[in-house]
Amino acid sequence: MATYDLVVIGTGPGGYVCAIRAAQLGMKVAVVEKNATLGGTCLNIGCMPSKALLYASEMFEEAGHSFAKMGVSVPTPKIDLPAMMNFKQQGIDGNVKGVEFLMKKNKIDVISGKGKILGTGKVEVTGSDGKTQTVETKNIVIATGSDIARLKGVEIDEKRIVSSTGALSLEKVPEKLLIVGAGVIGLELGSVWHRLGAQVTVVEFLDRILPGMDGEVAKQFQRILEKQGFTFKLGAKVTGIDTSNKTLVATIEPAAGGAPEKLDVDVALVCIGRVPYTEGLGLKEAGVALDNRGRVQTDSHFATSVKGVYAIGDVIAGPMLAHKAEDEGVACAEILAGQAGHVNYDVIPGVVYTTPEVSAVGKTEEELKQAGVAYTVGKFPFTANGRSKVNQTTEGFVKVLADAKTDRVLGVHIVGREAGEMIHEAAVLMEFGGSAEDLARTCHAHPTRSEAIKEAALAVGKRAIHM
Ligand code: FAD
Ligand code: NAI
Repeated sequence: MATYDLVVIGTGPGGYVCAIRAAQLGMKVAVVEKNATLGGTCLNIGCMPSKALLYASEMFEEAGHSFAKMGVSVPTPKIDLPAMMNFKQQGIDGNVKGVEFLMKKNKIDVISGKGKILGTGKVEVTGSDGKTQTVETKNIVIATGSDIARLKGVEIDEKRIVSSTGALSLEKVPEKLLIVGAGVIGLELGSVWHRLGAQVTVVEFLDRILPGMDGEVAKQFQRILEKQGFTFKLGAKVTGIDTSNKTLVATIEPAAGGAPEKLDVDVALVCIGRVPYTEGLGLKEAGVALDNRGRVQTDSHFATSVKGVYAIGDVIAGPMLAHKAEDEGVACAEILAGQAGHVNYDVIPGVVYTTPEVSAVGKTEEELKQAGVAYTVGKFPFTANGRSKVNQTTEGFVKVLADAKTDRVLGVHIVGREAGEMIHEAAVLMEFGGSAEDLARTCHAHPTRSEAIKEAALAVGKRAIHM
């Protein structure tokens, strides 16, 4: 029986990255994965397939709506959904193979099966044939990720009532699509199917979309989506979906109570959040403590309540994001190697990959107000940015929030094309504790959309040039 320095359970972005970093630091490492492919939610049914469909559907929309105004004439584009799904699958396969290659390159053993923690230093793995083996190891990292949150009374069949997984593989474009939850998944996958021709209605419990994002940003983004053709029913909840006929009939009620209304749809996507996945891990028997939301409890060094057992990624507290899981994987491996691994939770960017994109890093205005921090705001719209004007992609704006006393940048928020790429200069600046003045005095290439960030930083000191 092999004895490892580290066994990682789960090969999502948290687990496989943790394994690689640990191997780089000289540890003998194995990963345990219950699925047929490596890469976890992100590579197989999350980030990557959704981005492939977002890209393909955006190209479809551009060809149909934007090419002509630039003088590019093409025949009316048609959708070949099986080919689009094949494009998506090729992307998934390429990335999954990449992870397999990285496991080999770093001499990491891949053990196929479901892992169960028997206690400090022991993981039992049950293969798909039902056979079990016990693996011995100095340390264990739980990186088992998350699963979809269910809506009471609504059963997901992944055909007509789908989670994000089914919504990534619909066999035809629904005429009418109901989305329950105006969070990241709802708006991204809603965009995919809306671009491909579906009429989209989004029902959201709260009185706003994208909770957690800056309120002004969310408001402007909602208006943009409504202009695109999205219908929002805010402050409302779906209390049931009748599946007895060919058309689904959803019952929608005001969140605060009141008269229900019925909505006929072809497909309903339930995306009301995700929950930590710990099923079958044997945590209770092993004595690994969970918090009140079912997440594995960890200290600032990712250690659980059991000696030698650590946890990272979606299964612990914090934003459920692939890059957060990856950074925790690196930090955890470094801590196990006796180094000072660390994740700066104040500077984790978030991106919604719609058109336009929404991105953010640091605090929102609402958070600063609540914390009683005095702040200054600098804003700059893309309508005043030269590159955006010539490309006729002027939707959105940049907002920089800085400490009123020290000028240190506390948050940056962007709605606009390429916002997901642009946010990183703000992240680097904030990682180094930079000020709005630092950002404003950094020379930005012309003509770029990133100049809007510099202008927003100048606007903090009320001296934007192009506004
Ligand atoms: P996961 O990726 O969930 O991996 C966990 C792995 O553990 C899985 O492979 C699972 O099979 C395995 N496992 C579980 N239990 C066991 C066991 N007992 N034994 C063996 N193996 C086990 N995040 C972003 O940052 N950007 C995005 O664009 C983005 N898009 C998303 C789109 C969708 C539709 C969804 C659903 C999520 C998206 N996310 C995105 C979130 C992202 O996928 C997660 O934050 C990320 O995958 C978490 O990584 P993880 O390693 O913690 O867990
Ligand atoms: P979410 O937490 O982003 O949004 C869920 C939404 O559903 C919220 O607005 C919530 O108020 C609403 N809601 C909850 N219960 C409801 C109900 N009964 N009726 C109506 N609305 C209800 O969760 P989502 O979109 O499911 O995504 C899950 C996770 O996956 C997120 O935490 C996100 O971080 C991650 N993800 C990240 C992406 C990215 O980084 N681009 C893309 C997709 C997912």
